Amino acid sequence: MTKHHVPDPTVLIIFGAGGDLTWRKLIPALYHLQRDEWLDERFAVLCIDRKPLTIEEYHDAIFKGAQKSSRSGPITQENWERFAAHIFRRQGDLTAPQVYQEIKQFCDEKAGEWKTKVQRVFYLAVAPTLIQPICDQLAAAGFQNDREGTRIVIEKPFGRDLESARALNRMVTRDFEESQVYRIDHYLGKETVQNILAFRFANSLFEPVWNRRYIDHVQLTVGEDIGVEHRGGYYEQAGALRDMLQNHLLQLLGLVAMEPLLSFDADEIRNKKVDALKAIRPVTADEVDKYFIRGQYGSGWFRGEKVPGYRAEANVSPQSNIETFVAGKFFLDNWRWQDVPFYFRTGKRLPARVSEVVLRFRPVPHLSFPATAVRDLRPNLLTIRIQPDEGITLRFQAKQPGQMLRLKPVEMHFDYSEAFSGEQPEAYETLLLDAMQGDAGLFMRADQVETAWKLVDPILENWESAPPDDFPNYAAGTWGPEAATMLLANDGRHWTEPRTRDDTPTPKTESP
Ligand code: BG6
Repeated sequence: MTKHHVPDPTVLIIFGAGGDLTWRKLIPALYHLQRDEWLDERFAVLCIDRKPLTIEEYHDAIFKGAQKSSRSGPITQENWERFAAHIFRRQGDLTAPQVYQEIKQFCDEKAGEWKTKVQRVFYLAVAPTLIQPICDQLAAAGFQNDREGTRIVIEKPFGRDLESARALNRMVTRDFEESQVYRIDHYLGKETVQNILAFRFANSLFEPVWNRRYIDHVQLTVGEDIGVEHRGGYYEQAGALRDMLQNHLLQLLGLVAMEPLLSFDADEIRNKKVDALKAIRPVTADEVDKYFIRGQYGSGWFRGEKVPGYRAEANVSPQSNIETFVAGKFFLDNWRWQDVPFYFRTGKRLPARVSEVVLRFRPVPHLSFPATAVRDLRPNLLTIRIQPDEGITLRFQAKQPGQMLRLKPVEMHFDYSEAFSGEQPEAYETLLLDAMQGDAGLFMRADQVETAWKLVDPILENWESAPPDDFPNYAAGTWGPEAATMLLANDGRHWTEPRTRDDTPTPKTESP
């Protein structure tokens, strides 16, 4: 997170390099890091997968992929060639010792060519079942012995419940030290998510009111307008709870709720975040219905087109009981947040792709204005827009000009694209660079992952033992099931309507 220099000479080894993640995210991220001069000539990417392709065919395939996902528009042939000279490839079975000998040889060759020691970053973009065989092979080949010069980066999902995550942590840390393990949650690499720390701790204005005395409740929304696309097979094993709540939403919540940092040290950030997660009041399996809502989309409309329901998506069972929507509320038992609900919702096929954190402040303690002046009064609202239309909005009351005393809610906006010129790095650029620089602040430590699973496990247990009888219970293109609206309505509250890019409120599913 704190970058001063280009990483030491590095070989980045991508396992599972034939998958979507490589061309969609990793290759474009590395390309932009090189273009923006965060990588010098001494970096090499060794892509490993099983497909029998020549290096030219592989370059061609990733070039096409990178063009589609490039954040800076079309990649010129010249820039691509400069970059592609650093991309190498080996074909092989990740469970075979031979592959690891080839990696060793490759790293030795690069060390000879660059006339220096190289660090090795292993990126595991693979199915969870392959993590153990890969770690075993890395250990058998002796890579773990170089504690300073070897790191492994592991993609989510990290386990599928507390028990499997614990087993995975035990297994990975049997061969590698925790300091060598980088567990990715790409939300932490987003600029707007990192900005929560700057906003809270680099300003004196907000922190004094960031507590139960002033804040009525917090809302976290991570909405997606897409369905499961071609990921039905994966999603049938995951569902929204494992796919989004266990990681992205709880990490966001941790940043909003954590205590001020003493320093920007990686462990300090992670300690404060895990403290916040540990303060979340655990819910037992039989209390789940009181606090959490699940949903699955049926068919509906998206941008004027009829779209299928989840059960009709490719590689999804027509009787599937997997949730594509989850909402709920958490309480944190500590001095700062006691009795302040943290509501959250996330789902596929919602009306908009929008992620935001909303802090709704308490009403003023005493209103001295006449009743006619305050008809439109609204509590202060602070909205942190994570994506798209990244920015922060603060709502407050102002006197409407004129002879009559009338107060109106108005908004102050901070917009990233207006305030800062230039492009924003993508989350994967930040995370790859941090991993290469040995900065683990934005990665999840074993205890964070386990604490998050501890919170999610009772919900999984309850939902898996009592299949829903109302799925599908929301139409594609709506804000989830009625029960999600009622979750807040029963507390006398409502969801704040997210705004889309053109600032038009998205379709209403709530009271004003
Ligand atoms: C991934 C989930 O971790 O995050 C996906 O597996 C989801 O299901 C994605 O679509 C959302 O990420 P972003 O960056 O597009 O908000």
